[in-house]
Amino acid sequence: MTAAILLTAGSASLADVSGVLRLCTGCHGEDGKGIQSEVPIIAGMPAVAQEDALYAYLDGDRHCATVPMMCKSAERLTEDQIVELAAHFAALPFAPAEEEFDAALAEAGKAIHDRDCAMCHGADGQRDADVVVLHGQRKDYLRYALQQYAAGERTQLPAMEKKINALSSEDTEALLNYYASYRN
Ligand code: HEC
Ligand code: HEC
Repeated sequence: MTAAILLTAGSASLADVSGVLRLCTGCHGEDGKGIQSEVPIIAGMPAVAQEDALYAYLDGDRHCATVPMMCKSAERLTEDQIVELAAHFAALPFAPAEEEFDAALAEAGKAIHDRDCAMCHGADGQRDADVVVLHGQRKDYLRYALQQYAAGERTQLPAMEKKINALSSEDTEALLNYYASYRN
């Protein structure tokens, strides 16, 4: 019921993003930075990666284990709205979460990232048109996402799975500190 009211509120047509944006900004913020630590920053995230993520929630490849409302929000969207919302948040400027980190762990994490992850996620936060950025993303969200992958609760590329499964818990902590150390 609430969804119907939100979707039809105002004079905006359903294809116009302003009509559905409120389904998202309560958690992701107007600026796309997320209002709490488990909500990922989606400002500046490539649109195609956002679309893939939204379909993964719809298909059950991702589970919204800690915040079920995320998946419920995705269920309310039409395909056009998914495209428009992804384009909207992709166009907002990315700013790193600026989390606390341990410098020695961050250095160890950089070596692991460069060896195992940079070929797909880019070295030192380098931007790519279709791959998600890990540098500067919220630490709690990344920890949760990595736990979900490791537990088989979230579908991933086989080539990534091999790398994720080989990480020790110390490696994971080092990676999280490295991504948290990113400042631009
Ligand atoms: C109740 C809070 C909440 C609402 C409302 C919400 N989200 Fe989310 N969003 C989250 C959380 C938490 C996650 C991480 C969930 C997970 O993977 O289990 C997330 C993940 C995402 C991701 C994946 C990001 C990544 O780094 O992979 C995208 C894209 C996204 N949301 C877009 C949206 C859009 C578009 C809307 C509006 C239709 C929306 N969200 C509504 C909380 C919310
Ligand atoms: C073969 C390419 C590839 C490799 C190697 C790879 N990834 Fe990924 N990764 C991806 C793709 C593509 C996605 C987005 C699709 C998805 O959600 O599975 C992703 C998503 C992620 C996410 C979720 C981000 C978000 O915003 O939801 C995390 C965390 C992650 N990767 C961490 C890592 C780490 C850490 C390594 C190295 C140990 C790694 N990946 C290696 C391709 C790769």
